[in-house]
Amino acid sequence: MARQLKLGIAPTPTGGPGKHFQWLDPQIAGDASVDVDHYIEVARWAEDAKFDFVFIVDSNFITPDSPPHYLNRLEPLTLLSALAAVTSHIGLIGTLSTSYDEPFHVARRFGSLDLISKGRAGWNVVTSGDSGTAGNFGLDQHYDYDTRYGRALEHIEVTRALWDSYEDDAFPRDRQTRLFLDRSRQHTLDHRGEFFSVTGPLNLERSPQGHPVIFQAGDSEQGRDLGARTADAIFTHAPTIEAGVAFAEDIRRRAAGFGRNPEEILIVPGITVTVGDTDEDAREIERAQGLADNDFERALAEFGRGFGWHDFRQYDLDAPFPAEALAHAERGFYTQSARIVALAGDRGWTLRQTVESVSGPHPSPFTGSAVTVADELQRWFEAGALDGINLHGGHPAQLRRFIDEVLPILRERGVVRTDYEATTLRGNLGLPVPENRWTRARREGATPAPLPGSSTPTRTVVGA
Ligand SMILES: Cc1cc2nc3c(=O)[nH]c(=O)nc-3n(C[C@H](O)[C@H](O)[C@H](O)COP(=O)(O)O)c2cc1C
Repeated sequence: MARQLKLGIAPTPTGGPGKHFQWLDPQIAGDASVDVDHYIEVARWAEDAKFDFVFIVDSNFITPDSPPHYLNRLEPLTLLSALAAVTSHIGLIGTLSTSYDEPFHVARRFGSLDLISKGRAGWNVVTSGDSGTAGNFGLDQHYDYDTRYGRALEHIEVTRALWDSYEDDAFPRDRQTRLFLDRSRQHTLDHRGEFFSVTGPLNLERSPQGHPVIFQAGDSEQGRDLGARTADAIFTHAPTIEAGVAFAEDIRRRAAGFGRNPEEILIVPGITVTVGDTDEDAREIERAQGLADNDFERALAEFGRGFGWHDFRQYDLDAPFPAEALAHAERGFYTQSARIVALAGDRGWTLRQTVESVSGPHPSPFTGSAVTVADELQRWFEAGALDGINLHGGHPAQLRRFIDEVLPILRERGVVRTDYEATTLRGNLGLPVPENRWTRARREGATPAPLPGSSTPTRTVVGA
């Protein structure tokens, strides 16, 4: 079947980063971010329009300067379980951190969501960009990059191995022979690694999609390697079509270097879409929304987030950008912050100019009439700048316009699906179901490969 554009929606109804005043709009309930009915409505709209997934972003640290949605929001897995019960096809993706969630917890929670949703769960793997999270989990400071990404790699492999604790035929549930479990099909892990020690097994069988889908988000060299090595799909930003193509090529080259089929990794940037009656009308809507959110004091306070919430209000706004502040980003969003500092240096910007340039309203390439937006999405898709999109920060009215006006055009052109191909997220994303590592080992007459960082030899397969 021809490749088709994948569709996702990331609801942040009262306003995510840079959207401090979205909640003032009378069409948005002030408590929408903690109202399950809001998410149910969005998930149903998206499922009716055959979206691939709804994605719940998350972090575990806030300050009073965090955007409204972040200040008061629902925990992703709890929320996604509620959505699983009222939907049937749409994928359910949530963020959990490899820095602050243990593999056993992650495996059990996503494994449960995968069974509850009959194979629609996806895990967005993050290492936690907010360094202050450390203080909520008993640490004096966040991990450094090497530790963060070392943990992340081992975490993913241990979590995946836990999902393989039971082979598919582990539960005969035979009343006549009184055999509930075939013990030869249950496997411990006995993992003793650099960062995690996990005995196993997990107390949960696999779902129809084998493993929940792994999404990954992180842009450093280590982050890109982690995604290329382990992920089914990558969340990213793509400011231009050229940047999108370069990112996709870089990830695919790294994936091939890890011995993977590069075509099995989906590149999914977050984008903002604004649809108007004409291109000019759409630009006007975008401008009005940008102006509504244009508040320098708010932007200045939030600017510190990438730098471990360093307070930039202490500097002279009209002096050269304080490049030394980059030290505060070393355990935060370093890649993004280093890019900003380099840009400010190159351009000779003051702090004020830097904040205005980074946080000010940016015209999106996906602003225009329905035909213009459809054309642009198709152009990026066909150029290989993206395999799917993750709609961000949008106003509910704009989501409706995208569904009602843009998608019919893309459907007509065969760029997006007319109906779901499968009932699992893997099936709809065109991703293979991973074979259970123990079943594969038995089939190949081998032992499962040791996990990265493991210091314990892998046992031979029982009952081979
Ligand atoms: C597109 C994108 C989305 C991200 N989403 C989250 C998130 O939902 N929660 C979180 O704690 N961190 C999130 N992160 C942060 C990363 O996990 C990572 O900690 C941070 O980007 C710093 O690593 P890097 O320098 O490799 O990008 C995201 C990063 C990117 C690039």
